[in-house]
Amino acid sequence: MTQPATSSATMNHSNQRSGTLDSGEAMAAAKSVPLIADHVQQIPRSGIRDFFELVQNAKGVISLGVGEPDFVTPWRIREATIYALEKGKTTYTSNLGLLSLRKAICEYVLKSYGLEYDPTSQTLVSVGVSEALDLALRAVLNPGDEVIYHEPCYVSYSPSIALAHGKPVAVGCRAEDKFAVRASEIEKAITPKTKVLLLNFPTNPTGGTMSHEELESIAALVRKHGIWVITDEIYSELTFEGEHTSIASLPGMIERTLFLHGFSKAFAMTGFRIGYACGPKDWIEAMMRIHQYSMLCASIIAQEAALEALKNGHQDMLAMKEEYQRRRDFVVRSFNEMGLDCHSPRGSFYAFPGIQRFGLSSKEFAIRLLEKENIACVPGSAFGPNGEGFLRCCFATSFKELQIAVERMARFAQELESNRTGNQR
Ligand SMILES: Cc1ncc(COP(=O)(O)O)c(C=O)c1O
Repeated sequence: MTQPATSSATMNHSNQRSGTLDSGEAMAAAKSVPLIADHVQQIPRSGIRDFFELVQNAKGVISLGVGEPDFVTPWRIREATIYALEKGKTTYTSNLGLLSLRKAICEYVLKSYGLEYDPTSQTLVSVGVSEALDLALRAVLNPGDEVIYHEPCYVSYSPSIALAHGKPVAVGCRAEDKFAVRASEIEKAITPKTKVLLLNFPTNPTGGTMSHEELESIAALVRKHGIWVITDEIYSELTFEGEHTSIASLPGMIERTLFLHGFSKAFAMTGFRIGYACGPKDWIEAMMRIHQYSMLCASIIAQEAALEALKNGHQDMLAMKEEYQRRRDFVVRSFNEMGLDCHSPRGSFYAFPGIQRFGLSSKEFAIRLLEKENIACVPGSAFGPNGEGFLRCCFATSFKELQIAVERMARFAQELESNRTGNQR
């Protein structure tokens, strides 16, 4: 045993002195294969992250950037979490999640969206909608399968599709349609390779929503072409105008739709990392098989918190929603007054004003706004090429900060405008 160890130590020692590799090591070095997988290599860094590295280095910034409620999780939910710990709830749960939570989810989804699911076979508790989306795509995509989604969209859609070896296919939405997606545009994008249509209403970053009739025409297309749907309804409680309809509730759609939802936004629980998926048994079963080997289960403490949110958090959620609506009205009115074209988002907590008239890219605009006025907004281009010319401003920020932000943005816009008209003269 000692002999080889000694001889290898001697060998390394002599190599160090001469500064050369022995032939085995040299061959290994020459052969070393690229570390990072090709499909991961091709994933771009999130435009939001890049921008927020700039923000972190600046002092005294008011941020309308991160898509996160400024409210702390309602006390009753935090208390339930503490109580769960106190009772020693610190174990794994079923891979699918606590049955009590799955039952509460099914009751909630039936009451709020008219969707009936079985808690034992059609419901999976996940680590946020983020994990549910990843599982959903990995469960169904074969390499090269196409996934259509509407853009501008949540930053993770295209990378999540690519990481599941699918091909992302973006369909642009227009400001003149208040960022609803046109069924005719989706139809143009459908090919024999199309497997999934990914929808998100109300939409991050535009606040776009879809009427019942608009969703009907998309559902008809989906049925005609036999494709599958993933609907990310994480902002659905934050629908300010009109009724929210889930595409899953339309005739013939529950069988071909995976319904994703979570607690991060409406219940101000981003840090709990808890969400869920409801859908066809086979889809949920396939997702569970990946989840059991990767995540095992969502945190039991977060599951207990989610249970409390569903049972007793409704009034807290409504109070936050009411405040978002007040802020939305203020922000949208102020943006339009200062010359930023801004439609009133019918849902979510994002305003998406157009900045094209200033002749700057959205990134340039956002960087200058940050440098000059210490206001951080996300360039629309972070949400895909169809987001260029816009800025995402999150109004889940205190009213006081919004007032200051709007004042500074008005000054900034005025200055840009006078430079622009001065240059034209
Ligand atoms: C549209 C959309 N889906 C999913 C997520 C991620 O949600 P979760 O915190 O549940 O992972 C976000 C977060 O911003 C989002 O905007």
